[in-house]
Amino acid sequence: MERLLITGGSGFLGGNLASLATYCWETYTTYHSSPIPERGFGTAFYVDIGKEDEVRRLIGKLSPKVVIHAAAITHLDFCAQHQWVAREVNVRGTENVALAAEQVKARLIYVSTDSVFKGDEGLYSEDDLPEPLGYYGQTKLEGERIVSSLSSNYCIARASLLYGWSLNSSRCFTETMINDLRNKREVKLFVDEYRTPMYVKNLCEMFLELAARDELQGIFHIGGSQRLSRFEFGLRIAQEFGFNEKYINPVSVKTFPFVDKRPRDCSMRNEKAASILKAKFWSIEQGLKDMKQCLMT
Ligand SMILES: NC(=O)c1ccc[n+]([C@@H]2O[C@H](COP(=O)([O-])OP(=O)(O)OC[C@H]3O[C@@H](n4cnc5c(N)ncnc54)[C@H](OP(=O)(O)O)[C@@H]3O)[C@@H](O)[C@H]2O)c1
Repeated sequence: MERLLITGGSGFLGGNLASLATYCWETYTTYHSSPIPERGFGTAFYVDIGKEDEVRRLIGKLSPKVVIHAAAITHLDFCAQHQWVAREVNVRGTENVALAAEQVKARLIYVSTDSVFKGDEGLYSEDDLPEPLGYYGQTKLEGERIVSSLSSNYCIARASLLYGWSLNSSRCFTETMINDLRNKREVKLFVDEYRTPMYVKNLCEMFLELAARDELQGIFHIGGSQRLSRFEFGLRIAQEFGFNEKYINPVSVKTFPFVDKRPRDCSMRNEKAASILKAKFWSIEQGLKDMKQCLMT
């Protein structure tokens, strides 16, 4: 088996990626503040991706065939309030990973986001111009530009709002929502923020295909096929899990005192990925059914 390194293995996406990757790759992962419990999902190493020498040493030692770079600071308001820290990790960290991967001739899959778009139009394709509203989106776009200028073998995979179970802790908003609805607690969900939610297992399957297929280069939008507000998405969850919808309270995003600017509609089109990848996009119903099934097994 060939070697794959996943940065951010202690995160929601990285943990799910590692659990699937171990079937076909000799898998290595990284963590920063949350050590990864020994579960057989690859070998984990501590690294601060903001530290160039640490990153170079690790990637040089492992010499992976592919690096999936998922580590980032993902909390929008934290990024806006601690811009220097966000820049060190999301921009400088990406530069460190890209340089070290290039030195060992590794293919690089950079995990980016739909938040690189302004959000006034929605249903963005790979040809649309990214123009981030908030600081988090800005750092991720700078990461994209660094990867495209430093890497000779790369994909930029833009993910949209992810849902599913996380492996190491409660890292995903759907887990909190399901827990609240199960305990009959009110959940406030935005009626005026649109995304194309993507099931994390389905996304991982596609990312691993991108990792394996050297001929695929450039930008790919890996978002779900249905454009929904968070409120509409919450209703789908309630229906699938049999929770009472009356606990879901529709609210406007304008009523929340967020610090970072949030794009109103950064839904993405996925036709390019759908036509090129062998893995198929699941519907929201399929994703939620699988989530429910995982709860019962
Ligand atoms: N979740 C979504 O809905 C979504 C949507 C679009 C794009 N994305 C992108 O997907 C990627 C993964 O997101 P996620 O949801 O899995 O985020 P997450 O759960 O917050 O995980 C972030 C990961 O980054 C690591 N990290 C943070 N600072 C680090 C540092 N200084 N050095 C090394 N590692 C560091 C964290 O390690 P520790 O926890 O060990 O500190 C963690 O493993 C990100 O690039 C994000 O931009 C996510």
